[in-house]
Amino acid sequence: MQIPKLLVTAIALGFPMSAMAQDADIGRNMYMQYCATCHGVDAIGDGPLTELMMEKPGDLTQLSAENEAEPGEFPMLHIIHVIDGRTGIRAHGGSMPTYGEVFMSEAAGHGTTGSVLETRGRILSLALYLESIQN
Ligand code: HEC
Repeated sequence: MQIPKLLVTAIALGFPMSAMAQDADIGRNMYMQYCATCHGVDAIGDGPLTELMMEKPGDLTQLSAENEAEPGEFPMLHIIHVIDGRTGIRAHGGSMPTYGEVFMSEAAGHGTTGSVLETRGRILSLALYLESIQN
């Protein structure tokens, strides 16, 4: 767990603290909506779409265990970048779709600042959910 770093991020992003506890639940719902088709309901990489996929998604419950830089630590920043995709930081150009643009356009109409905050919130919620299901 990296609570202090996470809280700093949350404060920097302007989230009210009371919202933090619910973030993993929100993230879970979003995960089921956007990610489970490929990664599977249990996030072990067995979603229905994988039958058609050349490149299979890995087991998302092992992200902390497989973290080479800091064994056992959830790689929060990396995962945020993987989901967002707009920074181009991802090392490998795999078939994992990215969601920064998707969430930004879905939040259009909330104004620029509102859309940016909503997009960051959704990505953070997804990352928090993934952190909560690590084995
Ligand atoms: C169309 C299928 C598909 C969907 C939908 C999908 N993914 Fe993926 N994902 C993949 C594949 C394939 C990989 C493995 C190859 C790669 O990393 O690009 C992957 C890899 C990942 C990784 C590991 C990357 C790493 O560097 O370790 C994470 C984290 C991830 N996905 C999260 C998500 C989240 C969160 C969502 C929903 C918002 C999602 N994925 C939706 C196919 C998908």
